[in-house]
Amino acid sequence: MKVDVLLGLQWGDEGKGKVVDVLTPNYDVVTRFQGGPNAGHTLEFDGQKYVLRSIPSGIFQGGKINIIGNGVVLDPLLFKQEAQSLAESGHDLTKRLYISKKAHLILPTHRVLDAAYEAAKGAGKIGTTGKGIGPTYTDKVSRNGVRVGDVLGDFKAIYAAAKAKHETILKGLNYSYNIDELEKEWFEAIEYLKQFNLIDSEHVINNYLKSGKSILAEGAQGTLLDVDFGSYPFVTSSNTICAGACTGLGVAPNRIGEVYGIFKAYCTRVGSGPFPTELFDETGETMRRIGHEFGAVTGRSRRCGWIDLVALKYAIMIDGVTKLIMMKSDVLDDFETIKACVAYKIGDKEVEEFPFEINDSIEPIYAELPGWKTKMSSMKSEDEFPEEFNNYISFLEQELGVPIKIVSVGPDREQTIIRYTEEEEE
Ligand code: GDP
Ligand code: IMO
Ligand code: MG
Repeated sequence: MKVDVLLGLQWGDEGKGKVVDVLTPNYDVVTRFQGGPNAGHTLEFDGQKYVLRSIPSGIFQGGKINIIGNGVVLDPLLFKQEAQSLAESGHDLTKRLYISKKAHLILPTHRVLDAAYEAAKGAGKIGTTGKGIGPTYTDKVSRNGVRVGDVLGDFKAIYAAAKAKHETILKGLNYSYNIDELEKEWFEAIEYLKQFNLIDSEHVINNYLKSGKSILAEGAQGTLLDVDFGSYPFVTSSNTICAGACTGLGVAPNRIGEVYGIFKAYCTRVGSGPFPTELFDETGETMRRIGHEFGAVTGRSRRCGWIDLVALKYAIMIDGVTKLIMMKSDVLDDFETIKACVAYKIGDKEVEEFPFEINDSIEPIYAELPGWKTKMSSMKSEDEFPEEFNNYISFLEQELGVPIKIVSVGPDREQTIIRYTEEEEE
C-alpha cells in the first residue's frame, strides 16, 4: 500500500481538516507529519464544530488509528487541553492515538523565545502564531532538541539542560518573562502524555503499509509557507510540501500514492509577508466577511485576495499534486465576476513562474470570468452546478493541468461534492 498525502497549496487554512475528515472513511490510518499547534484545523458535523491543533483530523471517524508523526513538534500542555476537551465531548483517544517518540517537544521557553525573537524583529516580524514553532525546530536542527521519547528516561535532567541554553539566549536578548506557573502545568501535561502509546512510528507505519493498511497523511500550513519553497523568510519552520511527508513519517518517496492539493476558490494569508493578489478594498472585505476569514488559532483577521494561479502552479509542481480539491466556492456566490491571476508583471516583464523574490512591486495580471450568482451551499451533486461555475472549474483545470475532484460548498462534512469521471461512475 501507499501513503496518500493531503496538502494545502496556499498560505494555510485552505480547509484541510474538513477534507481529511471527509476522506478518512477510505483509510485505516491518518497521520500528521509536520507543524504543530500553529495549525488550526476546523471540522463541522452534526451541528458541532471542532478545532484541532496537534491531533490528526481522522479522529472523529469510527475507530481509525491516528498518529502524530516524528516530523511534528508537540506542546504537551496544548495537547492535553485538546485531548481532554475531546474526551469531554465523548471522544476517548487513548487507544487509537499514537505519538512518535521522535517528535520534538515544545518547551515553555520555546514559546518565550518565539515572542522574544518576534519582538527583536520589530516591524520586520514574521507574525508567527506564538506557539514556539520556530525555536523548537531550530533546536531540532541544531541538535539541542528534546523528544517525546525522552519523557521515558531521565527527563528532568534533559529538560534542565535545554532550558538552561534558552535562558542564556533570553538573557542576551534582555527579554524578561515568568514561566513558573506555565512550567508546572507543562510538567503535569508530560505525565498526562504518558498514558498514550508513544511509538517508533516509522516502524509502525511501514509495517501497516506492508500489511495492506491504507494511510492518509494530513499536511499542516500550506506550500507557500514551506521553509524552503515558501515566501521566505515569511514562512513557518518546517517542510510543508509533499516531501515533508517522507521525512516526517519515515516513508520512502516511492511509497507516496495520491497527492491531494487543496486550495480556496480565492486566497488568504495570516501574518506578515508578501501576497501579490491581496485586496485592500470592499471586495477583500466581502471575502473576509462571507468566508469568516479569522484565524482558527489566533483569531487574527486573515488577509484576502483573488486566487493566484502562478503560485498554485508552483505548489502543484513542488508537491506533485495528482488531484485538486477546491474549497469555499460558496463564498464567491454573489460576485458579478471572478478574477484569477494568470501572470505577474515585474518591471516590464510578464512572468508565469513563481519568482525568487515576491515583493510589493509585483503586479498581478488577471483573467476575469463571469460569476455564477447562485447559492451553492445546499447543492448535493455536480449536476446542480450552474454553467458559469462549471466554466470556472474548466478554466482552472486547464490552467493548472490537474483535475478538480472535490468541490466544497460549505463548512459542514455534508457540504462536499465529489466529481466523478464517466468511467468512475460506471
Ligand atoms: P485548515 O487549517 O486548512 O484545516 O483550515 P481552517 O479550519 O483553518 O480554515 C478553514 C475555514 O473554512 C474553517 O472555518 C472551515 O469551517 C471553513 N470551511 C471549510 N470549507 C468551507 C467551505 O467550502 N465553505 C465555507 N463557507 N467554509 C468552509
Ligand atoms: P493551518 O494548518 C495559516 C503562519 C503564521 C505566520 C507564519 C509563521 O491551520 O493551515 P509559525 O507560528 O508557524 O512560526 O508562524 O506561518 N502560519 C499559518 N497560517 N495557517 C496555518 O496553519 C499556519 N501556521 C502558521 O501566521 O505567518
Ligand atoms: Mg487553519
